[in-house]
Amino acid sequence: MKIVLITGATSGIGEACARHCLAQGDRVVAICRNLDKARDKFAAEIEAGRLVPLHYDLSCNDQLYKFCLAELKPYSIDRFIHCAGITLMQKVTSTGHDAMLKMFETHVFALTEIVRALLRLRKPEQELSMVALSSISAPALNCTTGAYSMAKASIDYYVRLVNKQLNTPSRKYLPLSEEQLAAVEALEGEEQKDQARAKAQAQAGFMVRINSLAPCMVDTPMSDFSFLQSQGLNTLPLLPLAVVVQEIFKLLENKYVSGKSVILDNGSIL
Ligand SMILES: NC(=O)c1ccc[n+]([C@@H]2O[C@H](COP(=O)([O-])OP(=O)(O)OC[C@H]3O[C@@H](n4cnc5c(N)ncnc54)[C@H](OP(=O)(O)O)[C@@H]3O)[C@@H](O)[C@H]2O)c1
Repeated sequence: MKIVLITGATSGIGEACARHCLAQGDRVVAICRNLDKARDKFAAEIEAGRLVPLHYDLSCNDQLYKFCLAELKPYSIDRFIHCAGITLMQKVTSTGHDAMLKMFETHVFALTEIVRALLRLRKPEQELSMVALSSISAPALNCTTGAYSMAKASIDYYVRLVNKQLNTPSRKYLPLSEEQLAAVEALEGEEQKDQARAKAQAQAGFMVRINSLAPCMVDTPMSDFSFLQSQGLNTLPLLPLAVVVQEIFKLLENKYVSGKSVILDNGSIL
């Protein structure tokens, strides 16, 4: 059983991720700004202790690091999915300081504070994989979503940076499994064993991974398809929620990928 930390678990992609984890028997710790909404959506799971809601508004994160150190300590978090987000249909030249700050707090600073808390809390032999939701409006340079796209571009840069810091030049390898160790021990001769051990170790994946996933429009309350259609902005394909969830978990469990921004766009940008 894994323990999965999720932001934005009360709606859209985050909620679908939380339900996916619960369905496969994992435990969810959800950071949400609206506890009543979390209780409405996950009453039975909260009652059973399978989903733990923690209250924090991610639009102001000056206490978030301390909050995470204290509140997440009892849980040994294995996976983290950062889904909390807000949109703003506004050109960047029309966006003032407060709106810009809220955008960066919710998308970027929430991520940076939670990641550094998780890295601090992680035990030396503990695998940790993290995925943050980005958007194709970042690499596609989308004017109508100015500040939002800037924040998402920062997320993409941040995952590269954290990965570089953690995994180069001497990345932390995952430990060999019992099966792999047994196969090594079954070999004859110390030289052969050493070679097989070194080869297996070199093929092991990353112990700590961080990636971002940039989908195009996804069918959630945020994308508000009817509004986009009325504004003539529904030019991108609409991805089914289930497809995005599937890709998030594929990325989360891929032991060989870290520091990447994976684009999921139905081929809409090159
Ligand atoms: N939908 C798309 O087309 C699309 C495309 C590309 C990327 N994304 C990204 O995917 C992520 C999830 O989007 P979505 O479509 O699932 O959106 P959504 O349905 O609107 O869900 C957003 C979630 O973020 C939470 N949230 C917002 N501000 C918060 C704050 N200050 N503190 C704590 N939680 C906060 C919301 O909480 P409440 O439930 O309390 O409102 C909600 O649970 C976002 O980062 C978004 O930018 C979405």
